[in-house]
Amino acid sequence: MAGRYSEEIIEEVRNAVDLVEIASRYVRLKKSGNSYMGCCPFHKEKTPSFHIDADKQLYHCFGCGAGGSVFQFVMNAEGMDFIDAVKSLADSAGIRLPELGPDGGEERYRRKQDMYAMNKDAARFFRDCLFSEEGAGAREYFRRRALTSKTVASFGLGYSPTGWDGLLKHLEAMGYPRDMMVEAGLCIRNDRGRVYDRFRGRVMFPIFDARSNLIGFAGRIMEGEGAKYVNSPESIIYDKGKNLFALNLARKSRRGYYILVEGYMDVISLHQAGIDCAVAGCGTALTEAQAKLIARGNTVYLCYDMDEAGKKARDRAFSIFKGLDAKLRVITIPDGKDADEFIKKYGGEQFEKLLGNASTVTGNRVDALLSKYDLTDVSQKVELINEAADIFAGIPNMVEREAYIRDMAVKTGISFESISAEVRKAGGRRQRNEVLNDVRRSVSSSRTVQEGRREGRREASERRLLGLICGDGRLYKKLKDNLTEDLFSTEIHRDIFRTIKESCDSGIDAQQQLMKSYRGREEELSSVLIVSDDPQNALAAAEDYIRIIKEEAMREMIAEAEKSGDVALLAELLKNNRKAGM
Ligand code: GTP
Ligand code: MN
Repeated sequence: MAGRYSEEIIEEVRNAVDLVEIASRYVRLKKSGNSYMGCCPFHKEKTPSFHIDADKQLYHCFGCGAGGSVFQFVMNAEGMDFIDAVKSLADSAGIRLPELGPDGGEERYRRKQDMYAMNKDAARFFRDCLFSEEGAGAREYFRRRALTSKTVASFGLGYSPTGWDGLLKHLEAMGYPRDMMVEAGLCIRNDRGRVYDRFRGRVMFPIFDARSNLIGFAGRIMEGEGAKYVNSPESIIYDKGKNLFALNLARKSRRGYYILVEGYMDVISLHQAGIDCAVAGCGTALTEAQAKLIARGNTVYLCYDMDEAGKKARDRAFSIFKGLDAKLRVITIPDGKDADEFIKKYGGEQFEKLLGNASTVTGNRVDALLSKYDLTDVSQKVELINEAADIFAGIPNMVEREAYIRDMAVKTGISFESISAEVRKAGGRRQRNEVLNDVRRSVSSSRTVQEGRREGRREASERRLLGLICGDGRLYKKLKDNLTEDLFSTEIHRDIFRTIKESCDSGIDAQQQLMKSYRGREEELSSVLIVSDDPQNALAAAEDYIRIIKEEAMREMIAEAEKSGDVALLAELLKNNRKAGM
């Protein structure tokens, strides 16, 4: 992996932090023996399948397969890269990291730091331009949009001059190379190699990541022709799908929830009105990674425009958040306004009322249905109730379900009983569909299901066997004669086995050796290294696993011989099989 601290440093950080403690900021954990369990923070689930082995400082989710060391955990939970995860953990442990040197792998990290610094200098330049003579129009623009000078300062807003090389010259004088300006997207290099400023004559919005590194800019046109926004392109420091505008500020909010809005201006207006938990995407559709940054058991208010595009965005958000641990609420702004316009007109206090009146996802979908159908038309009414019944049948809580049905009865004038009957029918349809889908799934893959189950049994046994021997050199020695590479059916298992064998044969701690050779991809190891077996039975358990693996291997060979019609081989195998008592 590119960009590294030395092994010693990483080890120091690893030893200074506790995965259990870090993870419990995201998950409620229950202790059992030396492992901890909880509901996985990386996917939605009701029964806990997230495990932490406190000794090994590894986690693994048997539900979604996420797993690894404390570094992977932070990378996954915070959307960080490895270096940033090391930094953040070192921060919290009070470890001072050395400056990364210039050697090979550390270069990328260096370059990112330089790009952040260059972006900061660019933001200062844009700010100075805003307050210079040529920034008069931009100052007027911000005034017109009712931004206070405090807001302009706290968001670091600026103005990019109209010339083609104002920023370029400025940064060059500060010693930044042109290549870096192009790489960070501040400048563009055309076909003929000419380099010029990307942002010209626009009001500038700097974009920060969650750690307040300056990763890009959005430049809004003030008037006239042209794209409304010009944005920094993605780069090694700017991944649009993994960042949210103003997340660095919203994370510090005391409100304990987030408001997701569409535009930069909406965010800024809300913050100016004291509603400092608003965030927005970076000009691209919402991604799961972005949703994860704010879900984490929080309430998330969706505040999208009332137009067609806004509706689409909201539906997308519904389905993305569905699999995540967040309580969704939908804000409806009256008169088709966006958050910014609403606040300008009515003020922040009125917006707080909208928060109070926010609807649930179901409520929002019901409202959409009610406005879609004409209630004076009987056949449309039937359609409406059909669609509504489908929605209600999916509500697991009966009290909630009934409340929605009652509300619908009032709004449509149809009796509670009739709607309930339709909901029951819809529930039946749902169940049948689920069963049908199950059947379809298993039929369409019956072969792979069968093989998959065996394969699964074999693989699981291999995994557990590896888990047992890698933590116990003496156990390996006892079993040594029975352990060969061809016992293992996947390349990764064979690779792990080789590492264990080599380590044990030369008296090295296999587990540490594994961690070393899998550094940066510990998740591949975690399912092997986390075993739930009682170590007192380790030898017996290991012998069981070896037996199961051999049995399964034999079954596979028999099946293979049957398929290819190799009768002689088949007879031989069956004979052996009987001898082995299977
Ligand atoms: P105002 O019109 O000034 O209130 O700006 P806004 O930020 O509220 O913009 P709007 O509601 O029109 O759009 C919402 C978001 O979509 C913006 O904040 C941008 O992230 C994105 N967006 C809008 N227009 C463009 C565009 O022309 N190009 C790109 N790349 N993104 C845009
Ligand atoms: Mn707007």
